[in-house]
Amino acid sequence: MVAELRLGLMISGRGSNMMSIVRAIEVGELRAGIALVVCNHGDAPGLAWARERGLPVALFERRDYPSREAQNAAMARGMAEAGVELVAMAGFDRLITREIFQRFEGRIVNIHPSLLPAFCGTLHAQADALKYGVKITGCTVHFVTEGAVDGGPIIIQAAVPVLKDDSVETLAARILEQEHRIYPRAVQLYAEGRLRVEGRRVVISEAEKAVGTGADRVSRGEGRSGLQSPATGF
Ligand code: GRF
Repeated sequence: MVAELRLGLMISGRGSNMMSIVRAIEVGELRAGIALVVCNHGDAPGLAWARERGLPVALFERRDYPSREAQNAAMARGMAEAGVELVAMAGFDRLITREIFQRFEGRIVNIHPSLLPAFCGTLHAQADALKYGVKITGCTVHFVTEGAVDGGPIIIQAAVPVLKDDSVETLAARILEQEHRIYPRAVQLYAEGRLRVEGRRVVISEAEKAVGTGADRVSRGEGRSGLQSPATGF
């Protein structure tokens, strides 16, 4: 039996993706526990929500540290001390530094509101998609790798059509619905040990073939055995 996955959530603002993960845990769709919610803004609504819920939270404001690296080192230490196994960035608004990558290599995921690699490296991907005139956009859950902003191996994507009368707000809201669906799903796949990284590809194994253990939930691949392709839009 695989132990419950200990999650570290990194948030900066409203925290709706964190909420979707917490709800998925509550309804039994995600077998995980929140080990720590890390936030970098004291006035973030998501932080207040997490506190009200009684979740373990830790605030790391940039101004309290001499450098970004020192702030990241403190966040990494905090998550390690809380026993975090997987770091899920959920609307964290700053690039993380080596201090976090070193402790959690291969164990950091993020959600981005576009079909990567389109509209990467921006905090306004929905507006950029609308402005560019794409007919389809969406969202992506991916591993976070050092030095490649929004460029790590892709776990799940969901497509969202751009409608004729869309504003940034209506488009972002429809994308967000999909984010709330695929992020808990991706974390559950990780928890089940069903993700295997082969270069740029993340191969998702069938449920009954999963071999994950608490210690190493992601395999880095050689060969293949009874695997299916990563699905688009679970
Ligand atoms: C989401 O659109 C997510 O894709 C992006 O930042 C936003 C965070 O929203 N990375 P929330 O704080 O989870 O509501």
